[in-house]
Amino acid sequence: LIEAVGAREILDSRGNPTVEVEVLLDDGIVQRAAVPSGASTGAFEAYELRDGDKSRYGGKGVLKAVDAVIDELGPAIEGIDASEQRVIDEILIETDGTPNKSRTGANAILGVSLAVAKAAADSADLPLFRYLGGPSAHILPVPLFNVINGGEHADNGIDMQEFFLAPIGASSFAEALRWGAETYHVLKGELKAAGFNTGLGDEGGFAPDLPSNREGLDFLVRAIEKAGFTPGSEIAVGLDVAATEFFDNGVYRLENKDWTAAELTEYYVGLVNDYPIVTIEDALAEDDWDAWKALTDALGKKVQLVGDDLFVTNPERLAKGIDLGVANSLLVKVNQIGTLSETLDAISLAHRSGYTTMLSHRSGETEDTTIADLAVAVNSGQIKSGAPARSERVAKYNQLLRIEEELGDAAEFIGAAAFPRFGK
Ligand code: PGA
Ligand code: ZN
Repeated sequence: LIEAVGAREILDSRGNPTVEVEVLLDDGIVQRAAVPSGASTGAFEAYELRDGDKSRYGGKGVLKAVDAVIDELGPAIEGIDASEQRVIDEILIETDGTPNKSRTGANAILGVSLAVAKAAADSADLPLFRYLGGPSAHILPVPLFNVINGGEHADNGIDMQEFFLAPIGASSFAEALRWGAETYHVLKGELKAAGFNTGLGDEGGFAPDLPSNREGLDFLVRAIEKAGFTPGSEIAVGLDVAATEFFDNGVYRLENKDWTAAELTEYYVGLVNDYPIVTIEDALAEDDWDAWKALTDALGKKVQLVGDDLFVTNPERLAKGIDLGVANSLLVKVNQIGTLSETLDAISLAHRSGYTTMLSHRSGETEDTTIADLAVAVNSGQIKSGAPARSERVAKYNQLLRIEEELGDAAEFIGAAAFPRFGK
């Protein structure tokens, strides 16, 4: 039974405050969870409550959310069995009382929801992935390493936010991690040799001032080859365009030109022809539904089209996308929706509907590794947690090494099969 719930303000990987929650059970178990934070957030995400008091952390303090945990959310669930996750999440949602979790804050609610799950797992003496996923949890995700950072995550001129390496030809997660790290180091050498800055962006990828987005893809393919791998069959590439960030008034502003959605879609068709791309996220803006439908008709059989700002891990927005035949994959960010139960609902709706899922970190992260366990629990087959460098990114990948070891012979790395089957 939940005996007490505490909370504190800690720092995230960008040096901004975030919420950490601790749950104490009556059997003496204590577990904690920390909440991530985005920079290129979708307009339809659950509400992240910040103090707005300019005298502390430039207004970004989270003491109101911390107080909401201590004064309201915690007391509302005390005395309940921690394994009653759905009941608890329902109480948290009702205690907040708003549709977007804006009163107590989705950051407060999520911290409690995740800490409860971890405490319940510990109390049952199970690893989190096993507690959440049961006996069927056994698929290790393909890691999507964000090795070039642009957009809102870096102060360079690249419009697209994320350039991924996807080691789909590896035979285990551990091998995929090694391939990614080796290629990351080769990429650094290549950028340096070409005279580019090798400083890092928010997610641990390099942030060079490349003249075009194609140049980013060229660097990835060259680095894959130089590292001794075959582009495509061994290491594929991917993009998170984060197009909402450069969309204004019906116009996309990319590479200093104005583009219609149709022009941009043609451009993506060209990229998919020219590069070994397996996944493109947020290729269009979060509310450009008709254009998304046209994009899906054009490319949905060839490449994974992921909705991030489009779906915001929200079962209702995902259901709309499924009805319309928009995208074919769901990006999963626990803090976009705010409770574990709703996150699991979005994932199961996606899987039931033939959509793939990709578990995701945020650009502002902590040492919390819950998403690694969640990826295995739901057999998602995909995770993005940034570059294979910087501890807040690597913490998730290292946790997956532990899970793979723990699963032993039961562990399965399905590589390319984790992505929609592309008709060539
Ligand atoms: P964010 O970026 O965490 O800054 O929103 C990640 C993403 O867009 O996938
Ligand atoms: Zn995204």
